[in-house]
Amino acid sequence: MKYFAEETSEAAVLGRLAADVDPRFREVMESAVKHLHGFVKDVEPTMDEWFRAIQFLTATGQICDGKRQEWILASDTLGVSMLVDAINHRRPDGATENTVLGPFHVDGAPERALGDSICLDGKGAPCVVKGTVTDEQGNPIIGAKVDVWQTNDDGFYDVQQPGEQPDMNMRGLFTTDEEGRYDYVCVKPLPYSIPTDGPVGDMLVAMGRHAMRPAHIHYIVSAPCYETLVTHIFVKGDPYLESDAVFGVKESLIVEFKAHGDGYKADFEIKLKAL
Ligand code: BEZ
Ligand code: FE
Repeated sequence: MKYFAEETSEAAVLGRLAADVDPRFREVMESAVKHLHGFVKDVEPTMDEWFRAIQFLTATGQICDGKRQEWILASDTLGVSMLVDAINHRRPDGATENTVLGPFHVDGAPERALGDSICLDGKGAPCVVKGTVTDEQGNPIIGAKVDVWQTNDDGFYDVQQPGEQPDMNMRGLFTTDEEGRYDYVCVKPLPYSIPTDGPVGDMLVAMGRHAMRPAHIHYIVSAPCYETLVTHIFVKGDPYLESDAVFGVKESLIVEFKAHGDGYKADFEIKLKAL
């Protein structure tokens, strides 16, 4: 095909793929072009609308830096991150479900002893979280690493308030004991808004959507010979459970935070899938 025509647009582009391109790359590009051309033929954008789309993509790239990843936010809020996560973690019934990592994980969280508090700013009522890491059959996994992080009692991650919150506030790396148990002290998390000061925030407004995430605590749980689990626990009763801006909630991850002494307690049992 020598020249481009509306009716044969996909073939015009795909005909330029060299014979010796990597087969997986060919598969990806063929599908991308097919769906992109299908989308444009479906929507039939005006020149002005297409230019606005280009401006959105440009602004999304321009706001990104080492700390801000607007592309991930776009993927999250359009449900794509959860879809990719689901496709890549088809777990058998019984293994704890995964959910999105989110942009606020920090490598190198301090190793803490079981029972320690991750709350370095002293704000909020104490909340004891405990549980066991087991295999799918319920056998304890000794020495599993439980990496947790969450917002503080004002609803912000430490990395969102550098200089205001202590470094590594509300983060910790725990190791399960000889019965697979872990426990630590934190604060009951609060719902919070994902960043809305960029193009994704504008998109949510234009779609008539809010930007809130229900209260949650993030987990990465790992042990040799088991699939690493990236997940959250969500607070039962939170008003945003059914409208999470990033579609991260799964029913099995909703946990009751019960009144306990001056604060709260929550149990989260974790089952890892063997590799
Ligand atoms: C979070 O839970 O921290 C998060 C996840 C996805 C997008 C923004 C924030
Ligand atoms: Fe979060």
